[in-house]
Amino acid sequence: MPLIHECVVTTLTQTGKPHIAPLGLIEDGENWIIAPFRPSTTLTNLYSCNKVTASFTDNALIFAKLVTGNCDIPLLPILSWPAPRLADALAHAELEVIDIVEDDLRPRFVCKVRRIETYNPFLGMNRARAAVLEAAILSTRLNRLSREKIDQEIAYLKIAIDKTAGPIELEAWQLVLEKINTP
Ligand SMILES: Cc1cc2nc3c(=O)[nH]c(=O)nc-3n(C[C@H](O)[C@H](O)[C@H](O)COP(=O)(O)O)c2cc1C
Repeated sequence: MPLIHECVVTTLTQTGKPHIAPLGLIEDGENWIIAPFRPSTTLTNLYSCNKVTASFTDNALIFAKLVTGNCDIPLLPILSWPAPRLADALAHAELEVIDIVEDDLRPRFVCKVRRIETYNPFLGMNRARAAVLEAAILSTRLNRLSREKIDQEIAYLKIAIDKTAGPIELEAWQLVLEKINTP
């Protein structure tokens, strides 16, 4: 299995409007692959926008907001690159799509990494942040998983929240839980 980097990808619509979504970038030698399931806005944009940005952040609340429909996240322009980055990125990568592998379910966009820039230090792993990320991913798969499986996973992830969350992670956890528990 290749390593997957969870990040926030900025694509541009045909009119140049930025769109952000949490996605996993799949390592493929020196390239990274973006693989959005059909249908998605990111997928539509990728067919017309070949210069995209991956933002790497340790802010779990950004992932929680994005999966609960709040896309009002501050962005900043990048010099000489069209797709903006998260203002709260620790680092960003400029990715150029160089190949598209078509698939009925999940096309793959092979990207060359043109440049990586770092803004803030990464200060270590945190279990609560990882738990929010897992719960955020679960919340995008509610129609494909049984209620029993979801409840089991949430009960396990909550251990890390109870032991290691700060206020931002707690707020993020609550947001995602509300989504998961809203029928
Ligand atoms: C951490 C994380 C990683 C994700 N990775 C993917 C992915 O690799 N492919 C995908 O289709 N959806 C992924 N999702 C779900 C997408 O963010 C979600 O389907 C989103 O609605 C698609 O974006 P869009 O329609 O706004 O472009 C991920 C969600 C999270 C929270």
